[in-house]
Amino acid sequence: MTRLSGKTALITGAARGIGLAFAKAYVAEGARVAIADINLEAAEHAAAEIGEAALAVHCDVTNKASIEQAVAQVESNFGGIDILVNNAALFTAAPIVEISEADYHKVFGVNVYGTLFMLQAVAKSMIARGKGGKIINMASQAGRRGESLVAVYCATKAAVISLTQSAGLNLIKHGINVNAIAPGVVDGEHWDGVDSFFAKYEGLAPGEKKLQVGLSVPYGRMGRPEDLTGMAIFLASKDADYVVAQTYNVDGGNWMS
Ligand SMILES: NC(=O)c1ccc[n+]([C@@H]2O[C@H](COP(=O)([O-])OP(=O)(O)OC[C@H]3O[C@@H](n4cnc5c(N)ncnc54)[C@H](O)[C@@H]3O)[C@@H](O)[C@H]2O)c1
Repeated sequence: MTRLSGKTALITGAARGIGLAFAKAYVAEGARVAIADINLEAAEHAAAEIGEAALAVHCDVTNKASIEQAVAQVESNFGGIDILVNNAALFTAAPIVEISEADYHKVFGVNVYGTLFMLQAVAKSMIARGKGGKIINMASQAGRRGESLVAVYCATKAAVISLTQSAGLNLIKHGINVNAIAPGVVDGEHWDGVDSFFAKYEGLAPGEKKLQVGLSVPYGRMGRPEDLTGMAIFLASKDADYVVAQTYNVDGGNWMS
C-alpha cells in the first residue's frame, strides 16, 4: 500500500508498543519514519528491525533542547517532517491522598509538556516548509472521564484532548491537521505496569486487572497495537484533510462520544 508514499513521520516513544506498531505500519504505507525515544538503544533496535526507512533518534520530550535537536536531526536526514505522532507517555496511579509532587511533574512533563512542545517545534518546521502536515496526539479513554486511582494520568489525557482542539483550530490555516486517537486498554508493556499498580492498590493477583478489563471491553478482548494502526494511517493521510481538532475513540466500544 502507498497511502503515505514519500512522506516522513516522526513518532515519539516509538521504540516499543503502539508507537512501534505505527512506525511499522507507516513504513508499510511507503513512509520514512523517525523513531524518537528517550531510550536510544531500544529505538536503534526497533529501527534496525524495520530497515533503512527507519531512523533512530534520541529525544526526551520533557526537554526543549532535546526536542529541537531531534527535529533538526530528522529534517537533515529526511528533508522535512510531514507527520508527527505525539505518542510518548508515562502512566501512574495512586489514591488522591498519596499523589506525590514528583509523580505529578514527571507524568505531566511527558504527557502534556511533551505533547505541546513537540507539537510546537514540528508545527514551526511545517509552517516554515509551507507544505502543511498531519499531527496526531495519543489521548486515551482515561481523558474522557476520571478514574478513582488514576487522577494524574486521566488529567494529562484530558489535557491532550483539549490541546488537540486548540492546536487543531489554530494550525488548520497552515494546512496542518491536528487530531487525536483515544485508545482503550491495549496490551503490552504499558499495561503490564498498569496491572502492577492495580495489584498494589486493589489487592489483585498479577494479571487479574488485565483479565477484568479485557472481559469488560464490548469487543470482547483488550486491544492490540495493530488495532490502532488503521486510524493512525487514516489521520496521517490525505483522506483526513477535512478532519480538524477531533479525538477518535479506538477502544472496542468502551467509550462513546
Ligand atoms: N497501552 C494502553 O492501554 C493505552 C491506552 C490508552 C492510551 N495509550 C497511549 O498510547 C501511547 C502509547 O502507549 P504504549 O502502551 O505503547 O506505551 P509504552 O509505555 O509501551 O511506550 C511508551 C514509550 O515512550 C517512551 N518515553 C517515555 N518517556 C519518554 C520521554 N521523556 N521522551 C521520549 N520518549 C519517552 C518510552 O521509552 C517508551 O518507548 C501513550 O500515549 C499512551 O498513554 C495507551
